[in-house]
Amino acid sequence: MHPNRVPVLTIDGPSGSGKGTISRAVAERLGWHFLDSGALYRAAGLAASWAEIALDDADALARCARDVEVRFEDRPGDDPLVYVNGVESSAELRTETCGATASAIAALPAVRAALVDKQRDFRRPPGLVADGRDMGTVIFPDAGLKVFLTASAEERAERRHKQLKQKGLEVNMPALLRDILARDARDAQRPVAPTRPADDAVLLDTTGTPIDAVVSKVLALAATAWPTR
Ligand code: C5P
Repeated sequence: MHPNRVPVLTIDGPSGSGKGTISRAVAERLGWHFLDSGALYRAAGLAASWAEIALDDADALARCARDVEVRFEDRPGDDPLVYVNGVESSAELRTETCGATASAIAALPAVRAALVDKQRDFRRPPGLVADGRDMGTVIFPDAGLKVFLTASAEERAERRHKQLKQKGLEVNMPALLRDILARDARDAQRPVAPTRPADDAVLLDTTGTPIDAVVSKVLALAATAWPTR
């Protein structure tokens, strides 16, 4: 099958909107591949910090993003392990420091350009669920179904808090909310690929909605988009 004929479902939205959990569950139910594009930005940021590249050195950061090797190792019933340049870095990638670095370098057009092909390579039969900020607007503009998830900032901070606590990481709530708002503002206002719904995206507000209900809703939309799947 030509890569462009492989069906793609994009799920975009701000941090903590439930994208990751929902996208993974939807991919599993459909039996499709899954792209966690945020992990690629986080991995590029982590590799840059290992190489001690300054956050204003756009050329070096772009080279680092182009060269970084990211490998996902699926684990049944658990988040995949992520290897960055061969080093297992799953826990480090999820930290707020890594998220903030990712967000800073993601504002650079050269870094975004360096990651385009890496993201499109995930489009393989039988299909792809792609999770990110610009999946529906920039990376897969021809996707057959585009979903944009939102939730209030308070609820997103609470979800992130719970997630981090489950991973044994201690964070304080006001700082988390402040970081989320700062990251949202930067991601939404940057001139390249800002977080915004594609014109043809379906908007779903997940505030107060259990994850399972959102997953069912997305699967129902997928059944309509691909009736013969
Ligand atoms: O989704 P996640 O929180 O892992 O993403 C980390 C950061 O990477 C985001 O704050 C955003 O700046 C950037 N990102 C992006 N485009 C994507 C995915 C993530 O700019 N498609």
